[in-house]
Amino acid sequence: MEQIFITGNGPLRGEVTVAGAKNAALPIIAASLLSAEPLHISNLPDVRDIGTALQLLELLGTQVQRTGTELVLDSNQIHSVRAPYELVKTIRASILLLGPLLARFGEADVSLPGGCAIGSRPVNEHIVGLQALGADIRIEAGYIKAKAKRLRGAHFAFDVPSVTATENLLMAATLAEGVTTLKNCAMEPEISDLARLLQSMGAHIAGAGTSTITIEGVKHLHGATHKVPPDRIETGTFLAAAAATRGSITVLETNPDYLQHVLDKLEQAGCRLKLGPDWIHLDTDGKRCKAVNIHTAPFPAFPTDMQAQFMALNALAEGSATVVENIFENRFMHVAELQRMGADIELQGRTAIVRGRERLQGAQVMATDLRASASLIIAALAAEGETVIDRVYHLDRGYANIDRKLAELGASIRRA
Ligand code: EPU
Repeated sequence: MEQIFITGNGPLRGEVTVAGAKNAALPIIAASLLSAEPLHISNLPDVRDIGTALQLLELLGTQVQRTGTELVLDSNQIHSVRAPYELVKTIRASILLLGPLLARFGEADVSLPGGCAIGSRPVNEHIVGLQALGADIRIEAGYIKAKAKRLRGAHFAFDVPSVTATENLLMAATLAEGVTTLKNCAMEPEISDLARLLQSMGAHIAGAGTSTITIEGVKHLHGATHKVPPDRIETGTFLAAAAATRGSITVLETNPDYLQHVLDKLEQAGCRLKLGPDWIHLDTDGKRCKAVNIHTAPFPAFPTDMQAQFMALNALAEGSATVVENIFENRFMHVAELQRMGADIELQGRTAIVRGRERLQGAQVMATDLRASASLIIAALAAEGETVIDRVYHLDRGYANIDRKLAELGASIRRA
């Protein structure tokens, strides 16, 4: 099994270009099932979760042509509506196939995703929402079996603003008969982006990116061309790494509007920021950051996907801070690993109290999930001596070429 070796090597400096967003690309890929005409997608990130999602689509009959960051998906000849457990268990976003399959083919058979390292992550909102649109849904032998002649527009309010449940219902409603109003929707930028794609496929949608979305169903959607937007979490991860190593970097081909709250926290930590239309420059002036309190919450507040990275930053900062995880009940697996590197972190339920240390020490640690891996990388870049990170396949699920990009910024990093 591959490991990453990092030796703390001083400040990160230079320029880095971020890839397209994994969490925007996944619903886009699922949306290709809504039309019999091809989707042309560019800026596709080279990460493992995308490969798995494409494998799943091929299994259903989608023709997949991938050349570098370009992708053509043709779902004209779908011969199966079954997403099997073997693939779904490795990528929870497979649940995104449920809405499109049901809407276009009147049937879907998607495995329940099961447990996850960061929390129980139920899918009840997806199921209840589709039932509100008239689907007949049963759970049988670990599978969600859904049927509907044609979905019907309805009013539905989510109990919790779920990102993928909002995406699922949004996609399903585009082909339903009549008007659907969704309330208490998640407002993440990936949802607005999905709505833009669906609109260019011929869907009638208003309000995406706000808590109420209205969709007027149409009979058919057509093909479209779409560019995956930049990855806001990859952007934030590089910025946090530069801040932790007292560096100075410019992140290119990004969108500063997507991570305002993260940028505010970096400024509070003492970093100087300059923003352009598609770039962010961060400079620490060689100084150690100050610890900053973090409360994760749905967009536009501080993202749970940046919590682990800021835990590492706080562990190295001056002063102490609290980090409260409000989205997932078990997203603190990185804490025990950071403690192995000398971090002073006390856990009290959903709150971590972090007392910053001037230095951490390299150690042998284990990645437990995608963003936990990123926090260990950040800690290792700023630690004294060598850190060996095990189970780096978690990292490869969501970060494209991160070792090369960090090496170009001056990190001493290798994989074996
Ligand atoms: N929830 C329910 N019932 C549901 C769905 C969600 O109770 O049916 C709860 C969850 O347990 C959680 C909260 O709602 O407490 C929010 O979860 P959400 O459904 O929004 O998460 P998700 O859609 O499964 C996406 C991202 C995650 C990201 C979360 C939160 C994708 C493919 N995944 O997951 O990304 O953490 O939103 O922003 O978009 C990652 O990239 O590392 C990652 C985990």
